[in-house]
Amino acid sequence: MAQYPPIMKDKPVFLHGGDYNPEQWIKEKDTIWKMDMEYAAKAGINTLSVGIFSWSMLEPRENEYHFEWLDEVMDMLAKNGIKAVLATPSGARPAWMAEKYPEVLRVDGERRRHLFGARHNHCLTSPVYREKVRKINTLLAERYKNHPALGMWHISNEYGGECHCPLCQEKFRAWLKERYGDIDTLNDAWWNTFWSHRYSSFDQIESPSAIGEQGSHGLNLAWKRFTTQQFCDFYDWEIEPLKRITPDIPCTANLMGNYPGINYFELGRHLDRSSWDNYPMWTGDARDAQVMGLSAFRHDLMRGVCGNKPYMLMESSPSATNWQEINRLRKPGALMLQGMQAVAHGSDTVQYFQFRKGRGSSEKFHGAVISHDNSMENRAYKEVSAVGKRLSELTAALGSAPENKIAVVYDWENAWAMKDAQFGHRYNKQYDETVIAHHNALMRCGYGVDVVDETCDLSGYKMVVGPMTYMLRPGFAEKVKVLVEKGGVYVSTYVSGWVNEEDLCFMNGFPGPLSDVLGIWDEETDALDATQHNHFIWEGERYEARDWCALVHAKGAKLLAEYEENFYKGYPALLVNECGKGRGYYIACRTSEDFLADFYKKVTAEAGLEPLVKKMEYGVVCTERIGANGRFLFVMNTVPEEKKVTLPACTEIENGNEMAGEVTLAPYQVLMLKRK
Ligand code: GLA
Ligand code: ZN
Repeated sequence: MAQYPPIMKDKPVFLHGGDYNPEQWIKEKDTIWKMDMEYAAKAGINTLSVGIFSWSMLEPRENEYHFEWLDEVMDMLAKNGIKAVLATPSGARPAWMAEKYPEVLRVDGERRRHLFGARHNHCLTSPVYREKVRKINTLLAERYKNHPALGMWHISNEYGGECHCPLCQEKFRAWLKERYGDIDTLNDAWWNTFWSHRYSSFDQIESPSAIGEQGSHGLNLAWKRFTTQQFCDFYDWEIEPLKRITPDIPCTANLMGNYPGINYFELGRHLDRSSWDNYPMWTGDARDAQVMGLSAFRHDLMRGVCGNKPYMLMESSPSATNWQEINRLRKPGALMLQGMQAVAHGSDTVQYFQFRKGRGSSEKFHGAVISHDNSMENRAYKEVSAVGKRLSELTAALGSAPENKIAVVYDWENAWAMKDAQFGHRYNKQYDETVIAHHNALMRCGYGVDVVDETCDLSGYKMVVGPMTYMLRPGFAEKVKVLVEKGGVYVSTYVSGWVNEEDLCFMNGFPGPLSDVLGIWDEETDALDATQHNHFIWEGERYEARDWCALVHAKGAKLLAEYEENFYKGYPALLVNECGKGRGYYIACRTSEDFLADFYKKVTAEAGLEPLVKKMEYGVVCTERIGANGRFLFVMNTVPEEKKVTLPACTEIENGNEMAGEVTLAPYQVLMLKRK
């Protein structure tokens, strides 16, 4: 049982708040700021994120600093019992900096230097940018180190993208030299004899580009790894003065779920707590089960990248967003579900973008706690207030965390390599969708699920599911073998065990180092278009195979189902291999989530795993957090229709009501229960 300390030491409650930009209202501060504090108190807001895009207000001209307004904001927050998540301003820079030092501007893949504008677009290498960031971060830390409002550091905002400027090219080459030592080792690792691509010097290497090299998989992979490294390094650079001057204040960077550009399992190792921004695309109908399924996966992933500690929902919209293709209004109850889902997955916060809606520019119609009407009567404000009230009643669960026995593997490096690979479905291999389908199917069976990558420790799990592990990173197959030999279960699929960490194919047959555990030889893989299907019968039910069908041979594994059609009729569609005290399953084709749910129901029961809830209708999912105050069970109806669930004996956390047996959940209802 793990009980974690509160994220902010002196605020031992669930944090409720959001991004706040009072500087946009500086000319009306006497009325607006005052109103903001009143509205915050009534909505149960106890934290606000400030300073996120404030650089041009903090340093309007080079070396001319204006902290007075932020002093006033910080004092006001402290006076109102609100903690600040104080940001470093590197997410957007002032115009004077771009004008005087063009090197801070990013260069794109086609080697064009961008103009001043937008945000999240600085060069990560530029010594000038780094020096400017270091200086302002130091000044912020010095100024607010003893301020009672300071609760946490919010580093930059949604790190992302990449820079291809000459400075970044030099750094990339240095990184390559460090990794490969000499140029021939690199040439061999990248298979550069192909198309006469052997380099004779590191100086000849350029980052991937549409006007240059794009088809060297070794290069592409190295560039992605380097870019992740750049963000880790930049983050460390940003927090150096903060850690030195305010060692007790935790730091985080707000992440973006399964954003493809950064390996968050790497960046996550640098964070004190992970935090992320969640914007579900609600449909308002039964499909919200999938919308919430995607969001459930991302919560587990975002918790996983920082070691499964209680994390933070840093941003979510209090009503409709403004950047989705269709920005639907949400039905009543959806906001509560969105916030409580985060808590259910282990978040100790529910935060929004944004606290007050701006009057101008591109986010003026994005949902906010306080709208242009300045009304406490609007739906968003009332719903946010209800979330605030509910959070205040959950303190017993603060700092508790899930202790799941099942993990699903999602690996960024694997995703990058597979995206590049040219075979089968050239452009859409559906890796993310497939991992999510397995994750969601396990949740449908009543389990909480962790998300790990291939570098994570697997020793605490009874079952690990590795869909499409095309790339096997060093040590992963060995960990799987240990897991299975000791009695665990490993589930693999088609397109697994094809290449090593340098993207070089395994020789002597796929799935390479996983062959022993799975007891198969994967000879060929068919790709089906949307109109083509195969079928198989398993446990008396007929299921559809789609998109991918691997043609494998049992080499010790037992056949559980076979294809019905095509020239590979009779080939295995599903196999199991007994290995040591455990089992390795191989699902040879892409299936529907219904098959996966049936499959996991049986396989988990055979493995002796107990679901959190035994009986629930489709649309209901649950999770558990365990801490010093007990075991907390969260039961969520993710659709806007009534659904039934059969509960174990529990009491509701908020009011101590006893509950057990069959219960009908209202649309989007979330129950927060304590196990007896
Ligand atoms: C992101 C950003 C915010 C804001 C929201 C809008 O998450 O971090 O600054 O732009 O999107 O949804
Ligand atoms: Zn650069």
